[in-house]
Amino acid sequence: MPKEMLARYAAMTEAALERFFPQEEGCAGRLTEACRYSLLSGGKRLRPALLMEFYRLCGGEPEDAIPFACGLEMIHTYSLIHDDLPCMDNDDYRRGRLSNHKVYGEAVATLAGDALLNRAFEIMLSQTAVPAERAMAAAAYIGRCSGVFGMIGGQIEDLSLEGKTPSERELLQMISKKTGALLRAACVGGCLLAGAPQRSLAAAEQYADALGLAFQIRDDLLDVIGDAAALGKATGSDAANHKSTFVSLYGQAACRRRVDELTARAVDAAGDFADGGFLQALAKQLAGRNH
Ligand code: IPE
Ligand code: IPE
Ligand code: MG
Ligand code: MG
Ligand code: MG
Repeated sequence: MPKEMLARYAAMTEAALERFFPQEEGCAGRLTEACRYSLLSGGKRLRPALLMEFYRLCGGEPEDAIPFACGLEMIHTYSLIHDDLPCMDNDDYRRGRLSNHKVYGEAVATLAGDALLNRAFEIMLSQTAVPAERAMAAAAYIGRCSGVFGMIGGQIEDLSLEGKTPSERELLQMISKKTGALLRAACVGGCLLAGAPQRSLAAAEQYADALGLAFQIRDDLLDVIGDAAALGKATGSDAANHKSTFVSLYGQAACRRRVDELTARAVDAAGDFADGGFLQALAKQLAGRNH
């Protein structure tokens, strides 16, 4: 059941991304080609699915949340393009193909990331299906989660911890920002867009926090035990960059235990929604994912 529902949300997202980011002619041609290269190259489309599902659970029609779902996927895609740059993780493969900078060069890859970020907010804030106050609240929240207090803040912490041994608290705080924040943007953002009450916002935040930590711990584990072809990105990147991860600090068995505990917490939080079955099944599926 979660696989079909995720596939349905992914198909809705992909059809809309194609419309929201058309190929330009002339000077911007190479730049839009680079944006589209990464944006339309697969990916699980997890964040758009979560945003639309929370919007649905809070009484909305998923279709109406599509500009926000796509905006968030653009922000996520830009974060991946920049994350792979030589000045960051220096990774050559992403989503089963060469990284953006390996094809277009570092300057265009940097600008493609910037262009995706700006287009995201343009699309989220120029849609009309949702009352303006709700759209503003959701966009402001997504902006906060994406920036210094969220994903970007987590990325700088990730880089500053290279070669160091963080405490568990420091490690979890970094993960909660670099990965948790965009999942919070999806879950809480979907609720804000639907004008949901405080109780739903709190449950969405708890779900996202648990899912985000579990998701990154699994990602760190897959960087060691995963299969590069299935993952669509190289393994061994964290060790090559001297990153301290949950797996390097505590070992594989501790990772598995922690992912299971966090998944149980996510399932519990989703129980706050009368129709939270997809959220629960998705959390369980992601706990054992191989890509
Ligand atoms: C990759 O995110 C970056 C992390 C937060 C670990 P995803 O695993 O969701 O990447 P795609 O979108 O499916 O490529
Ligand atoms: C990335 O974490 C989180 C982002 C904000 C992009 P990783 O650096 O572990 O993600 P991958 O393994 O490159 O996808
Ligand atoms: Mg990284
Ligand atoms: Mg990386
Ligand atoms: Mg990783």
